[in-house]
Amino acid sequence: MSFAVRCLDCGHTAPFYPTSTNCLRCNSQWREVEYDYETLAKTLPLQLPGRPFDLWRYRELLPIRNPNPSIALGEGGTPLIQAVNLGMMLGCPNIFIKDERQGPTASFKDRQAAVTIAALKEAGVTEMVAASTGNVAIAYSAYAARAGIKLWAFVTSLVPAVKMREIALYGSQVVKVTGSYDQTKQVAAEFAHQRGLYLDMGARTNTSIEAMKTIAFESIEQLTALLGPAALTPEKRSIWRTPDWYIQAVSGGMGPLGVAKGFREMERMGFIDRLPALGAIQTEGCAPMVDSWKKGLETVIPVTSPRTHIETLATGDPGRAYTLIRNHIDKSHGAFESVSDEEAFRAMHVLAKMEGISAEPAAAVAFAGLFKLVRAGIIKPKDTFVVNCSGHTMPAEQFILGDGWARNVVLPSKLMEETPQEGLLAALNRVAPDRFPRVAIVDDSAEARHLIRRILQSQGNFTIFEASSGQEALKLIEHEVPDLIVLDLMMPEMDGFAVLDTLKTNPETANIPVIVATAKELTSDEKSRLEGQIQSLMQKGDFLNDEFLDEVRTLIR
Ligand SMILES: Cc1ncc(COP(=O)(O)O)c(C=O)c1O
Ligand SMILES: [Zn+2]
Repeated sequence: MSFAVRCLDCGHTAPFYPTSTNCLRCNSQWREVEYDYETLAKTLPLQLPGRPFDLWRYRELLPIRNPNPSIALGEGGTPLIQAVNLGMMLGCPNIFIKDERQGPTASFKDRQAAVTIAALKEAGVTEMVAASTGNVAIAYSAYAARAGIKLWAFVTSLVPAVKMREIALYGSQVVKVTGSYDQTKQVAAEFAHQRGLYLDMGARTNTSIEAMKTIAFESIEQLTALLGPAALTPEKRSIWRTPDWYIQAVSGGMGPLGVAKGFREMERMGFIDRLPALGAIQTEGCAPMVDSWKKGLETVIPVTSPRTHIETLATGDPGRAYTLIRNHIDKSHGAFESVSDEEAFRAMHVLAKMEGISAEPAAAVAFAGLFKLVRAGIIKPKDTFVVNCSGHTMPAEQFILGDGWARNVVLPSKLMEETPQEGLLAALNRVAPDRFPRVAIVDDSAEARHLIRRILQSQGNFTIFEASSGQEALKLIEHEVPDLIVLDLMMPEMDGFAVLDTLKTNPETANIPVIVATAKELTSDEKSRLEGQIQSLMQKGDFLNDEFLDEVRTLIR
């Protein structure tokens, strides 16, 4: 293993020890680990193929002298999942979700904990202090338990109680601070100083930054396996595939800093030929980086009292991390963006209903940011994105699920003795009435029908019919007389315009409301053909499930 640490301020290079946190020459705490990239460019491609797909696959690019399998928990190697439904709704087929929920404690902070705790154990540390908005403390606690390190976890009182209990369950001492996260960090630092304990340095912790690189390494390898190499060199070596964008929610900045370094190292070793644009997303109530970037500032203006329900992202003063991320964003033609808590909760709901992925609000912030960047035209529809997604949904459900999300079956008490069949049927009928609104979906694409079906089913109860051609649609509609028709325009043989013309000549079907859902850019002639014939026009690739449902509900009512 060959690595050293270089100071970002004076350039001084020194051997790396995890407990020595300052530059020996200028005392700066901002330093970066460096490796022998020239040698690794040759050796890694030979070593990787035989190794398991986990974080330690890239051990030569991590600052650990002797990786210690006895504290590992299966970190890294998370799936890269294509978001097909989301892709269809946004008109962006290449959205890939890096599913960090599948780490040992359900967030990408597991990577940081695995490497940092391994380094601290190697250095003989037995007690440490960390301030956290929740997930870091959970991840550190799990690994600290295995490594025999006592953790003092300083959290703000806003961290949900379920997260605090999880920290405590692993045997860490939770210290609840009534104050902002920035104040909590100060209290933790003072405590560590008083007791002479090792203090986690957040985004200045080299081992944590290095751990986050593995998200970049894995994503590149996974995209290459899924989509094929980006190119071949003249010597017929594959250039691996980089996403066009890497998107993640930001608080202290550890994730983006580490992941960006990972991409830079891959480029430096010649494995990829360009850097992805970085999208760093914050919540409006605590968006110091976004606000400072939009004002063109080199250094960040802190937010002194964050106002957000998404406490995970409540770093008001990210300090130098902002400047470093800003450099990368500007170089990679990326963007900082902010979204409201409501937009994040909505994205969380969209992701759960349409992709079966239950992410935590902080991760949903990244998805809400993605939606915003796509709609602003900053992200191009053909681009390939990797979005970082983490878990722990429980505390947020209260914000996104209204009343009536469950239906109760109340069984009459004497059900079993008297008329069991009728009693049960009556109870079940209260759960679901006999007749639901009836919707006909007409589209020649099976995927498009599937998407609309899923959108309708995700919000309760419709009776759904499908037709895959104009002729089939006419027969179906005459026979079933639905309450609403969702109609595609471009279909072979009989197109949507012809279907509409025929429906309007039949008094039985003339008044059924119609939503046209089309991928076609309509000419003004076509638009006037539809006028008065349909109730709503929705452009495929430009609506999310809840927007479509709102339209359906309005028309059926
Ligand atoms: C799920 C999730 N997303 C994003 C972040 C932001 O972290 P950072 O800015 O340190 O990368 C955190 C921090 O704990 C998190 O838990
Ligand atoms: Zn220095």
